[in-house]
Amino acid sequence: MSKVSYEEILSIQRKVNIVDIVSDYVKLTQKGRNYFGVCPFHDDHNPSMSVSTDKQMFKCFVCGVSGNVFNFVMNYHNDVLGEDINYYEAVKKVADKIGVSIDIASKKDVKIKSPLYDIYELSVMFYQNYLNTGSGKIAKKYLNERKIDEDVIKTFQIGLSTNNNELSKLLKEKNYSENDIISSGISISKNNELIDIYHNRIMFPLYDLNGSPVGFSGRIYDGSSDSKYVNTKETDIFKKGNLLYNYHNANVYARKQKEIIVVEGFMDVIRLYTIGVKNVIATMGTAVTKTQASLMKRLSYNIILMFDGDEAGSKATMSAIEELKDMDVNIKIVRLEDNLDPDEYILTKGKDKMLYHLSHPTSLLSYKMEKYKEGLDFNESEDISKYINLIKSELEKIDDDIVRDLEIKKVSKFTGVSEEIINSKLDIKNKDVKIVKSLKEDKTKLDKYQKASKYILFYMIRHNNLIDYYYNNLSFLPNTVDRALANEIVLFYKKYNSFNFNDFIVYLKDKKELIKRAVYINDLNYKDEYLMEDIDSYFKVIKEFLNELKINKLKNELKNEKNEIIRKEIARKIVSIKMKENK
Ligand code: UTP
Ligand code: MN
Repeated sequence: MSKVSYEEILSIQRKVNIVDIVSDYVKLTQKGRNYFGVCPFHDDHNPSMSVSTDKQMFKCFVCGVSGNVFNFVMNYHNDVLGEDINYYEAVKKVADKIGVSIDIASKKDVKIKSPLYDIYELSVMFYQNYLNTGSGKIAKKYLNERKIDEDVIKTFQIGLSTNNNELSKLLKEKNYSENDIISSGISISKNNELIDIYHNRIMFPLYDLNGSPVGFSGRIYDGSSDSKYVNTKETDIFKKGNLLYNYHNANVYARKQKEIIVVEGFMDVIRLYTIGVKNVIATMGTAVTKTQASLMKRLSYNIILMFDGDEAGSKATMSAIEELKDMDVNIKIVRLEDNLDPDEYILTKGKDKMLYHLSHPTSLLSYKMEKYKEGLDFNESEDISKYINLIKSELEKIDDDIVRDLEIKKVSKFTGVSEEIINSKLDIKNKDVKIVKSLKEDKTKLDKYQKASKYILFYMIRHNNLIDYYYNNLSFLPNTVDRALANEIVLFYKKYNSFNFNDFIVYLKDKKELIKRAVYINDLNYKDEYLMEDIDSYFKVIKEFLNELKINKLKNELKNEKNEIIRKEIARKIVSIKMKENK
């Protein structure tokens, strides 16, 4: 599989003008040498995005997003259009626009589309049509009684299956092979005849991540069967654990609102839609899988779990938390009263109460604080002790000292156990993280280190000799992004023996955070020339940071160390670091 090379991408970049390409997506107005437009990557009405012909870069002054033409196209398709294209596909789109053909050999291009997609598309239309015939009257009445109106029926492509085997017949007439029809899960073969799986059910199409229908959930509506929903069997294109209901629609809204709401049933999604809540997806009643958890994270870092208000929903909430807990996401929870699911809640309590819930979700810790209390009696000291032991591990997980401290206060109030005792129970492991955090809280120091880092990076970008100088004498910056950026600059320079900012951005491909930081630093208003003694003094500032880190760590060891001999040794180390620093 050949992929377009870095050199080819560079040559495409040199052929295009970023202004021409961005204008295809956003209206730009020229002001002097630059062009301005409304930034499509955050909610704005002012022209806060600039596109520079000289630099061949774009940059938003409000949200900070920036980069070259490929970054713009990739961000636009993914964040605004809700597609899922990779960097090479973005390069191809740009190349196509200027009539250059390149080979990106992406899987999507190579793979032959399964005939099952067409079968589903046709079936969706068939069911939709049938719902609108005279035979669909009772089903329509059912839907309308459930307050699902024509608009919603259209949006979610709701349909009705027949009493006979009309769909199987139609699919055969359309020349789909019997094999494909059966493997689609829509028909089975009985006595050499094709029989529809679904009879007389209200049909809800289930979509894959791109929004193609790949399965159905059929609901009874006249009490003729006891299984409420029947789902399509798993097929090549339908794996329930790999998709989330409404993912393709929710994508854009979740990114805009920086939040995704997760519910159990697709009826809940549909009902929330009717009150204008569109950043919502459904797990469809099964336990959240690893894949689903990472899909949620792709939609947003902020995840609100709003499962059914009953006991089953409470269990499902806990198990979803389990699956999400190591994913570095911010989980919040809404629990609905009176055992209601979101659909019923909106119908019985109204839109406003639902919106109130959604804007006041519970933090994960508060949720667990309540949850762990279940079955315990705080009049019993043993139960309190049990409780503290349960909540202890939750408190230990909080990296931020201040947040942890506040939560400890809450637990103390809740249980009547003093903060000191709770504190003494905690085993805080991430001491390094803590130290860095405590340094960060010292605003003036932070400014000093950040300023030094910015200078160092700014001059590395402009003066090649400083790249080597950094590599040999410092090779460290306190901030992770800055450090990663400096590393990339070093790597790039070692590989190509020279440094050019635009080429470097191409080299960074889709590393969004690094690009944003690089463009920010490159655009700083420092003078181009530098004094070596300034560089040395910035290096010294960073070394101070490293020393402070070491000293803090030693001081911490000192705090916990009882042995006098070891204590002396630690103290000696601290003094020696301080001495070196003052030299
Ligand atoms: P629920 O039973 O909570 O469905 O199941 P619901 O959303 O309240 O549906 P209505 O209001 O009764 O119509 C949640 C999800 O579990 C799946 C469905 O995907 C449903 O959306 N489910 C439920 C099944 O697959 N089969 C069933 O028999 C029931
Ligand atoms: Mn329901």
